[in-house]
Amino acid sequence: MTRSQHTTYFLSDGPALHRPAYQSALERCLDRLVGLRSIAGLRNPKIGQPGHRWSYCDGPDWVMGFLPGQLWLASQLTGDPAFATACRARRPQFRAVLDSRRARDHDLGFMFSLSAVAEFLSTGDGVARAMGIEAARALIGRFREEGQYLQAWNPVGPHDRAQARFANGRMIADTIQNLALLHWAHRETGVSDFREVADLHEDSSLRHLIRADDTTFHTFLFDPSTGEPLRGETHQGYADDSCWARGQAWLIHGFANCYRLTGRAASLDAACRLAAKAEALMGDAAVPVWDYALPADGSHPVDSSAAAITAAGVLMLADLAPKPEAARWRSFGHRLLDGLLATCDLTQTPGAEGLLAHGAGHVPAGRSDAMLPYGDYYFIEALMRAQGHRDFFW
Ligand code: GLY
Repeated sequence: MTRSQHTTYFLSDGPALHRPAYQSALERCLDRLVGLRSIAGLRNPKIGQPGHRWSYCDGPDWVMGFLPGQLWLASQLTGDPAFATACRARRPQFRAVLDSRRARDHDLGFMFSLSAVAEFLSTGDGVARAMGIEAARALIGRFREEGQYLQAWNPVGPHDRAQARFANGRMIADTIQNLALLHWAHRETGVSDFREVADLHEDSSLRHLIRADDTTFHTFLFDPSTGEPLRGETHQGYADDSCWARGQAWLIHGFANCYRLTGRAASLDAACRLAAKAEALMGDAAVPVWDYALPADGSHPVDSSAAAITAAGVLMLADLAPKPEAARWRSFGHRLLDGLLATCDLTQTPGAEGLLAHGAGHVPAGRSDAMLPYGDYYFIEALMRAQGHRDFFW
């Protein structure tokens, strides 16, 4: 695939929106994906290693859909059939997730929206549709009636009581991204459970994850047997009362997308309030520090994935919000993309396998300053949204 073959795919909404720098960046992303297709084969990137090389998932993993998601977007943009072939060849890996009770957790939405649903929406394939619906059924099976939330993680076996105590009764910010799978399954089947569970989990996210000052908890704990709301806690952030930048980003994108899918005013209001808070907390930084409670003075790692997810979310808001606000969100989205292009862009770095440097995977566990497959996926989504694209797999 040569660059000139890419160039006609980026105009979907009138020339006023388009920025040549974003089009060039998108073209470089597509070139990088062509290269990665042969380097990765059927493997799915997990996290970057020194030298901007990928390490890969070893079996089911919440990040396994992000390369297929990028490849399906590339297929949509270019029409190059090799992208779809590379995705379809991964189908057994996703079948294995559905067949393993340990692998089925709240991240089924990330995994299946960007694989089976993307395939169905791109090709109409019936097996892909059935796999997407099976994943959605497994996801609603995690709904806890007592507290009205989807439980995020799983206990791992009869002997690990600490993990059981940690996982049972816990909802987390990230899960909002998985609700789109349920909305899709509802539209596709008409089964009301899918929509009901998505709305109820979203209501609990609104009620328990957002603080009065529009910062957010990463996780919230309920009494697992009674559903009594107990307290907010962090898992990947700096402190229980801090504001993990990627958690805030998941919620901005997630509430915006819920509003797009349901028209519920509370979702739009939440997305706008959280985006305004993130913008204020960023100060003058090019890219958010990994937790907004920390100073953005260069002494702490930044998180390029939080920037990319927030950019995609606020650019979606720019398409949804009333006119005066829309301009504000478009300009915040452009600011985030400009920050990423100025400080994290790897698409002009020879030998790099990913798109963005400086992602903070899990800082308390020692993982920062690395390429992340989700940072790359949302970078492409944000660049496409900036260029007027509105058709994604969520
Ligand atoms: N969903 C896990 C993370 O954002 O790291």
